[in-house]
Amino acid sequence: MSTISTGENPAGHVCPHQIAFIFDNPIRRIFQNPNKMLRPYISEGDTAIDIGCGPGFFTIEMAKLVGSSGKVIAIDLQEKMLGDVRKKAIKHHVEERIKFFQCEQDRVGLDQKADFLLAYHMVHETPSPRAFLKELKTMLNENGKILIVEPKMHVTQNAFEDMVSDIKELGFRVCDFPAKIGGRNVLIGLKE
Ligand SMILES: C[S@@+](CC[C@H](N)C(=O)[O-])C[C@H]1O[C@@H](n2cnc3c(N)ncnc32)[C@H](O)[C@@H]1O
Repeated sequence: MSTISTGENPAGHVCPHQIAFIFDNPIRRIFQNPNKMLRPYISEGDTAIDIGCGPGFFTIEMAKLVGSSGKVIAIDLQEKMLGDVRKKAIKHHVEERIKFFQCEQDRVGLDQKADFLLAYHMVHETPSPRAFLKELKTMLNENGKILIVEPKMHVTQNAFEDMVSDIKELGFRVCDFPAKIGGRNVLIGLKE
């Protein structure tokens, strides 16, 4: 994967399922604790979306945080990623809280609103981050929040700042640039 500088990904590079193990393994857990990272943003009973969920490193913890009265929607364009998440959900007894949704590369196509939406290391893989973020806006509850985290290795500071400008132009409010979340990140919502 090359570093992008324009925010666009016209070649449509997507992280292949063959390297999914990189995104959910014990070494990542040493540096990132999904419970600690996400519990400030997710409450019991919430509807939370993990978009570009990959093999489910965050999805399973999200399902625990929403509790039995909440719901998580795991979205990915790769069926095999969703298959991995389903297996883990069964192992952790949270499969009934998770809905699995396979989307298209250039359109999510989910008619659903959420209280919290996570887009971790995936926005730069969408063909047009701006079009993608515009669609995410339709998937957010009035008081909902979206946490976007992009990898420093693949997204320059300038490209990230361009994306934040797009985010503001699209009518989102920037709520925070949280610490200890990793990468280049921003928390956004429809309200501050
Ligand atoms: C680098 S992986 C990150 C996985 C996960 N978020 C994590 O942090 O462990 C990116 C994931 O986003 C998915 N993805 C890429 N483009 C997408 C798109 N346009 N819509 C939905 N998912 C997408 C890929 O299939 C892949 O599973």
